[in-house]
Amino acid sequence: MVVQERLTRTNTLAGYLDDFQLIGREKEKSDIAELIEEQASTQESQVIAVWGMGGLGKTTLIKDVYQRQGVSNTFGKHAFVTVLRPFKLEELLRSLVLQLVVREDALDFAGDTQKNIGLMGVADLIEVLGRRSEGKRCLIVLDDLSAMVEWDKISPSLHEIKNLVIVITTRREDIAKHCCQKPKCIRLAQRS
Ligand SMILES: Nc1ncnc2c1ncn2[C@@H]1O[C@H](COP(=O)(O)OP(=O)(O)OP(=O)(O)O)[C@@H](O)[C@H]1O
Ligand SMILES: [Mg+2]
Repeated sequence: MVVQERLTRTNTLAGYLDDFQLIGREKEKSDIAELIEEQASTQESQVIAVWGMGGLGKTTLIKDVYQRQGVSNTFGKHAFVTVLRPFKLEELLRSLVLQLVVREDALDFAGDTQKNIGLMGVADLIEVLGRRSEGKRCLIVLDDLSAMVEWDKISPSLHEIKNLVIVITTRREDIAKHCCQKPKCIRLAQRS
């Protein structure tokens, strides 16, 4: 009898915690999705930074938000890039070109141009990104920035892209603040 009651109480408590965690994460996701949409409505490019210790669920959270219908409808072009180590700007820009340009305008890129992307250097990749993103709202997620110098290299490369919202994730608060100057756009990921 006592055992049965304990089990029931444990189950109830576990159920309550599950619900609580689920609601907590949903709220966090919709807050970030709202912030992205809000930043997209401004004319200048905007940066949102989500930070928190390893394993908190930053990547999972942003991936989920990135795939939301509302977010993908807001942006004519979007890309999700994990920043790899050792950091290579050329590889990161190539991945952006493939996602933002080639995937969207595959027909235009049939033939020589598509083959050449593999051979393009940093300057050419920047030029293609700027030229091909004209007139479209872009969302770029840079997942797992681990050094300010990475941002210092990436950021000027994206200046030619207008109407851009960049979301970065990082473990470090100082990197979040380095990338993003607006306090409301710096978010500490919640423990899931
Ligand atoms: N809401 C959640 N519910 C259950 N599991 C989760 C949740 N969010 C993340 N996880 C799991 O926790 C682990 C870590 O998540 P994730 O890789 O998103 O963390 P991270 O903050 O990006 O870590 P890192 O700083 O190492 O990149 C993954 O195995 C993921 O599947
Ligand atoms: Mg991560």
